[in-house]
Amino acid sequence: MAPWWEGAVLYQIYPRSFQDSNGDGIGDLAGIVRRLDHLAWLGVDALWLNPTYPSADADWGYDVVDYTDVHPDLGTLTDLDRLIAEASARGIRILLDLVPGHTSDRHPWFRTRRDWYTWVAGAESPNDWLCGSAASAWTHDPTCGRSYLHTFRPEQPDLNWWSEEVREEFDRILAYWFARGVAGFRIDAAARVVKSRDLAAPAAGPWLRPPPDLAEVHAVLRRWRNVAERYGDRLLLGQTWIEDAGGLSAFFGENDELHIVHPFALSVSQLYALVLHEIVGSVEASLQGRGSAAWQASSHDVIRFPTRWGAGDERRTRAALMLLLGLRGTVILYYGDEIGMSQTNVPARRARDHWGRDGCRTPMQWADVPGGGFTDPDVEPWLPLGDLRVNVESQRDDPASTLSLCRDLIALRRQLPELATGCYEPIKAPPGVWACRRGERVVVVANLSGAATRLTGVEGTVRLATERARDGEIVKGALRLEPWEAVVVAD
Ligand code: GLC
Ligand code: CA
Repeated sequence: MAPWWEGAVLYQIYPRSFQDSNGDGIGDLAGIVRRLDHLAWLGVDALWLNPTYPSADADWGYDVVDYTDVHPDLGTLTDLDRLIAEASARGIRILLDLVPGHTSDRHPWFRTRRDWYTWVAGAESPNDWLCGSAASAWTHDPTCGRSYLHTFRPEQPDLNWWSEEVREEFDRILAYWFARGVAGFRIDAAARVVKSRDLAAPAAGPWLRPPPDLAEVHAVLRRWRNVAERYGDRLLLGQTWIEDAGGLSAFFGENDELHIVHPFALSVSQLYALVLHEIVGSVEASLQGRGSAAWQASSHDVIRFPTRWGAGDERRTRAALMLLLGLRGTVILYYGDEIGMSQTNVPARRARDHWGRDGCRTPMQWADVPGGGFTDPDVEPWLPLGDLRVNVESQRDDPASTLSLCRDLIALRRQLPELATGCYEPIKAPPGVWACRRGERVVVVANLSGAATRLTGVEGTVRLATERARDGEIVKGALRLEPWEAVVVAD
């Protein structure tokens, strides 16, 4: 039997922003439980929660101070256990975010286990490696006179994955969560977890980050897979880059490393048919027919796609959703994608993130009421609310809404397995038109342009159209598409 994640739709939740249950303006785990019925109705297979661990909040969860507990703002371990149980009762699995590359500088290990980090003598950078803010990746610690390595902020010292003790500790951390019923992990920067030991090695990639030691990265991935196998059915979905050496397929190892690779390209691309075919084509080529990738258009790191791709035009958002949910492999929806939630303009005085990513992290828009259905009416949420005219309540019972379209697309991936898992084969189409065959009998076409167009050579029934009046239309040879219209046709 195929594993549960093949062709699955995952739903990413930024826990601080999904649903507040206790009126402090911060989303929490009990809030997610409250909204599980929405997610079951939507039809998603699993939730990926951004880090839920106690954190010093220099990077909102990505600077972990304890890998085996829950951030007090989000609740308790009991709340997490309850979320796992309640989700499972609705057929939904829970994935956590594993952050193995670095801890917080407030993690007790940074004081008690100095050798679990990477140090050099003195205050000078030993090389040209850069960190997330394009400064040196080395920070001097005056308490010991040495400098430590950090791929991201100075508050996020990199763990030294050459240490066998670090590897053993993470084996225990994975096992701990698997035993609690966690269905798998999204693994932050999985393809780069072990850094080169050779400090003279040149910095990697366009951002000149610390270079990985690939052989050791693979060794670590195999260890994690080993732990996962002991529990059965657990997913390792690792963040990878298309330019990672050896190609994406290398990260599957001999079927003993990652289950799914998660490249980034779509989340930063433009909505041009040519560009998208280039991205999807090169990811597919890089997979070399082995396994599949996870596709995602919005996330907690990038500009939400309805803004990046749609400039507020709902037709574009709908075409993009159809294109996305018409891709082979795993699709990840970011909370709010299903209603076409756009980027929020967060004024500087309300900013919480050092890298300006707040605009994609504002509270879920449940209803057009004070508090947005996210928190109590008189409470100021931790980040400001966006445009509440776009909300779940107003779209839920409207068969023509974006939310209904999204739900029907997810259901269609189940009805037409080709849509979820069939081979991707681009079709020659007029400029600005995205068209591909999926398996033997499904065709996905999206007119990503402002001009009406025609595609010839398509036969079958329109199974789903962004213009819902066209659902069920018979296509005999020529398919007409209005600007920004998309359809799934199957014979
Ligand atoms: C990953 C996360 C990002 C975070 C960074 C540092 O790229 O997606 O949000 O800031 O890692 O942990
Ligand atoms: Ca709360």
